[in-house]
Amino acid sequence: MKRVAVLGVTGSIGRQALEIVESHPELELAAAASGSQPIDGLAPLTQVGGDLTELLDRTEPDIVLNAVVGFAGLPATLWALERGVTLALANKESLVAAGELALEARERGGGELLPVDSEHSAAFQCLEGRAAEQVDSLVLTGSGGPFRGRTRDELEDVAPEEALAHPTWRMGPKITVDSATLANKGLEVLEAHFLFGLPYDRIEVVLQPTSIVHALVRFRDGATLAHLGYPDMRVPISFALTHPERAATPIPPLDFSQGLVLEFEQPDLETFPLLALARRAGEQGGTFPCAFNAANEVAVAAFLEGRLSFLGIAATVEETLAAVEGERARDLGDLIEADAEARRLAEKELVA
Ligand SMILES: NC(=O)c1ccc[n+]([C@@H]2O[C@H](COP(=O)([O-])OP(=O)(O)OC[C@H]3O[C@@H](n4cnc5c(N)ncnc54)[C@H](OP(=O)(O)O)[C@@H]3O)[C@@H](O)[C@H]2O)c1
Repeated sequence: MKRVAVLGVTGSIGRQALEIVESHPELELAAAASGSQPIDGLAPLTQVGGDLTELLDRTEPDIVLNAVVGFAGLPATLWALERGVTLALANKESLVAAGELALEARERGGGELLPVDSEHSAAFQCLEGRAAEQVDSLVLTGSGGPFRGRTRDELEDVAPEEALAHPTWRMGPKITVDSATLANKGLEVLEAHFLFGLPYDRIEVVLQPTSIVHALVRFRDGATLAHLGYPDMRVPISFALTHPERAATPIPPLDFSQGLVLEFEQPDLETFPLLALARRAGEQGGTFPCAFNAANEVAVAAFLEGRLSFLGIAATVEETLAAVEGERARDLGDLIEADAEARRLAEKELVA
């Protein structure tokens, strides 16, 4: 029996995780947390807002599923990594922002870090059991979001409702906007760098509009392994929660009877600059990834509130990154300071 703490239980990932936990007798919901929505009686231990590490201290779970959105998920990520408690990580922002600090905590804790992000779960499965020297490069796929193929002129006046209409995935509002700007793919490049220890020039992004191919790994002998499946987050959630058993799910296997279209294309980095900006922040290192994430969170919130245009999201992040020092964080205090500073600068850029 594995005792699971689901953080962000009221969200898109959290709700699907509950379904997985309920359908597996070997999984038990030990604790649940949300940011502000009530969750009374959902689990033996619950918490709404506040410091989630207090809930984790009381719960002592076997697995933490971190499905909180944004930098707010960081303390829970570090809590699990530091203690060697298995971390099923959907909250990519915490790994992107904390980077080396998170990896150091993982090294000390010695526990498992299982990605829930579909591309990273796919890459993890293609890489599992292979020696690092066999791997040539990693290819992360993306649908391209609702605005794939549009020009910058066509994006000037898009409304939040249009950005929220994702063609293949049903997700929370922040990640859906990130998918429309390609900031999500940028965060995923950074996430992959920290998860798999690959340099940035060996992590590529390619668009695959039907979201059937989730990731590919190229090996040094010229072979490429790909992970395919219908776009359904219950697959990577179940994989992480039941690892290494790979328990059954209700998701059907791929059906080829009607044919299957698998087309690939390059992302348009000029129309969607956040992908390249994220990569550059990663290459700069230090707290640049943290600042990228913070500025993006501020800009996306402003866009959803109608205070910023769609194109203003990337402009705000670019201006913020140009203004921060990006110095390396020695500890969590430094990181929290870097996050706060980037947020202050981004808020200023919004009104500039
Ligand atoms: N959705 C997907 O398919 C998908 C796929 C891959 C990765 N991810 C990643 O998974 C994470 C969650 O995404 P989502 O789409 O599930 O988001 P979501 O639907 O917006 O849900 C976010 C969850 O986080 C909770 N939360 C927000 N702030 C919190 C705080 N300060 N303390 C505790 N809980 C807090 C929310 O609680 P309230 O409801 O009370 O506000 C909600 O339960 C993100 O990092 C995202 O990038 C999601």
